[in-house]
Amino acid sequence: MIITGKYPNLRLRRNRKTDWSRRLIRENELSANDLILPIFLTEGIRKKQSIKNMPDVYRYSIDNLSNIIDRALNNKIPMIALFPNTHTKLKDKKGSESLNENNLVCKAIKFIKKKYKNEIGIMCDVALDPYTSHGHDGILKKNQILNDETIKILIQQSILQAQLGCDVIAPSDMMDGRVGEIRKSLDKNNLKNTQILSYAVKYASSFYGPFRNAVGSKNLLKGDKKTYQMDFYNSKEAIREVALDIKEGADMVMVKPGLPYLDIIRLIKDNFKIPVFAYQVSGEYSLIQNGIKKGIIDNKSIIESLVSFKRSGANAIVTYFADKIANKI
Ligand code: PBG
Repeated sequence: MIITGKYPNLRLRRNRKTDWSRRLIRENELSANDLILPIFLTEGIRKKQSIKNMPDVYRYSIDNLSNIIDRALNNKIPMIALFPNTHTKLKDKKGSESLNENNLVCKAIKFIKKKYKNEIGIMCDVALDPYTSHGHDGILKKNQILNDETIKILIQQSILQAQLGCDVIAPSDMMDGRVGEIRKSLDKNNLKNTQILSYAVKYASSFYGPFRNAVGSKNLLKGDKKTYQMDFYNSKEAIREVALDIKEGADMVMVKPGLPYLDIIRLIKDNFKIPVFAYQVSGEYSLIQNGIKKGIIDNKSIIESLVSFKRSGANAIVTYFADKIANKI
């Protein structure tokens, strides 16, 4: 029985009367421990570049990272996620730059690990899209994204990033079987303790637009990603994706995008006992942040949107708001 009384002796408004009472009966909490901050990287020195449609989000050159990481640390944000904007001239069909130990992400890992040791976690995407001339996450041949051939590169990318000190390897490519292959190869290379956060449930979404601008793949992308990312008409398929990735050795799983997929977060949370993360993606950030800038909604909408993830069962949230609200919660 959920309702145990009846109006007029039952008045649900009584518990909402005061701030202290509302806090007392609160069912969910949001803290800095729940936040993961994505950081975009660019070549050069003393660079802080703005990004189209993402007000207050920037690309940083490596010498300029300390400010934003210091702030994240002071605000007790547990982990950052690194994304590179690779020079177009370094991009090719196979995404070779992903395996260059002096690429932007690798340089950033080395810098951050040296300076911050284990004070903050580093998570790195495993996928080829920031490095390919066609903007896809895998190898493109005759209009097809090759699964097994792509995995071979993803394995090397994972080992490279992990060897340099990346704490959490996050395959975001949606190739079949990559989590198991990556886990096996990490173990063989004495990297047993590197965690894997699988983007297990990643939908082919229009909400990634501003991110693709940020990493410079938007204008390069040929076609769409529907042959590997999930169809947003489906939800049961998400359970199969997660079940597989857990079997293959994922330590944590991600659902992505965020706000339009709260039902999926709840579904995964109810079906599995594994940490579930949500990604409030670039398009979601843009809509809210631009709405605030224009005065359409106020900035309390940020916390409201983030708490919805907690309500739906997410353990943590990757969000471009992380550094902006961590000290307000
Ligand atoms: C790349 C990747 C994407 C995002 C994170 N990793 C884009 C894509 O798959 O096209 C999107 C994040 C965002 O929109 O904020 N595999």
